[in-house]
Amino acid sequence: MFGGEDETSRRAVLKGAVAVGGAAALSACLEETEPEPVPSGPDDPSSLPARQHAWNDHVRTDDHGNTLLPRHQLLLYLTLPGDGPPDAAARRDVESALRTLDRAYERSSDGLLHSIAYSPRYFGRFEAGLPDSVDLPEPRALSPFETPEFDRQDALLHLASDRADVVLAAEEALRGNEPTVNGREMESTLTDVFEVADRRSGFVGAGMPAERQDGLAGIPSSNPVPEESPLFMGFIAGFRENQATEDHVTLSEGPFAGGTTKHVSNLRMRLEDWYGEQSFEERVAELFSPVHAEEGLVDGVGEDLGDDSGITQEMIENVRSNARQFGRVGHAQKAARANREEDGTVRTLRRHFESTDDDEASLHFPSLQRRITTFEEVREAMNGTDLADLPAIRQRVNNGILEYIFVKRRGNFLVPPRSLRALPTPER
Ligand code: HEM
Repeated sequence: MFGGEDETSRRAVLKGAVAVGGAAALSACLEETEPEPVPSGPDDPSSLPARQHAWNDHVRTDDHGNTLLPRHQLLLYLTLPGDGPPDAAARRDVESALRTLDRAYERSSDGLLHSIAYSPRYFGRFEAGLPDSVDLPEPRALSPFETPEFDRQDALLHLASDRADVVLAAEEALRGNEPTVNGREMESTLTDVFEVADRRSGFVGAGMPAERQDGLAGIPSSNPVPEESPLFMGFIAGFRENQATEDHVTLSEGPFAGGTTKHVSNLRMRLEDWYGEQSFEERVAELFSPVHAEEGLVDGVGEDLGDDSGITQEMIENVRSNARQFGRVGHAQKAARANREEDGTVRTLRRHFESTDDDEASLHFPSLQRRITTFEEVREAMNGTDLADLPAIRQRVNNGILEYIFVKRRGNFLVPPRSLRALPTPER
């Protein structure tokens, strides 16, 4: 039993467990309570989805059918030794390690979701280039006002679960620090092949940002993040109708059919003025659209919106006239300008989550789309550089949420289908 100070320190340990990582964090989680058993995966992997990015049918949903991403997330950036292509033994080891994870944990938020993706630099190790069916440029700056570091590690492993102890136990096993994972023996580890070059952690879900806001750089000392908010900025994002389907972002042809591309940025947040100088209506206007604010479409964190952010074709077309009329434009309204196919289908599947890495409020922003160029187009639309000629709008002021977010890193990756997830060659 815990009480008083013990209780406070126990909660502190748990809150930071995935951010800190390692054996001590894992045992802190396991000591918390008698841990519930974690559902295991199938012996026969053929029953698993062919797409590594097929997560939507395996996560919780809210009352409106919006997917709720797993609460705990980890990104492991991985490098291979040397400059040449990996060999068959390395490929076997990677596949064996991932297959053990598949068997150890049910593919779900209650168990573990995972996917591994590869960078342009990884594919550069091979003589053959990537086929034309894959659009995977090197990462680059996507606005005139950012100077990010570029993630050019070979691979990116993404782990996600509603249980912190699952993410940590999977990581410990993959690093070779534990011989088993959920009762399954690891025949090989990821670190037999890769070096872990970087480790980034995060979380998403109602209550989690508020619980972590105290003393965090980027968050005002009044601790204004609402308890019900899944994100630091105080609203829900990722409504079903404003997200691409997994089908839509999946490559339909070429050797990597069944895969997708993943852009991952990391953005630092500075929310002093967001909360300190802006009213609730102004925040709604800058995140959604001024019409949302005027018509009172957003209540609280936005649950009343249901399964759709309420961004209409009219709002998309009226960005400039909104800027003239209201003196500001909305983030979602601006980004949506490039986020629709001609028939109205949404182009990108955003799976972002929050972070306290480096003791500052930040955001890890994975986005899935068929082509990286699509993401670049959407980001350009979000930049709103074309609006900065208007009197009230500056590049970063009254221009959506650009005043409060600062891009630190960008990386581009290909998520192959599951059958090719272990050190794929550019062409089969
Ligand atoms: C702190 C950072 C961010 C927050 C809090 C945030 C929040 C939101 C919210 C609340 C919406 C409206 C609801 C929805 O459709 O999900 C939205 C839409 C959107 N955001 Fe963000 N966002 C952030 C950063 C970004 C970044 C970096 C991008 C990169 C391009 C982006 C792209 C989009 C897109 C494409 C939409 C959907 C617009 C549409 O097609 O309807 N967001 N965002």
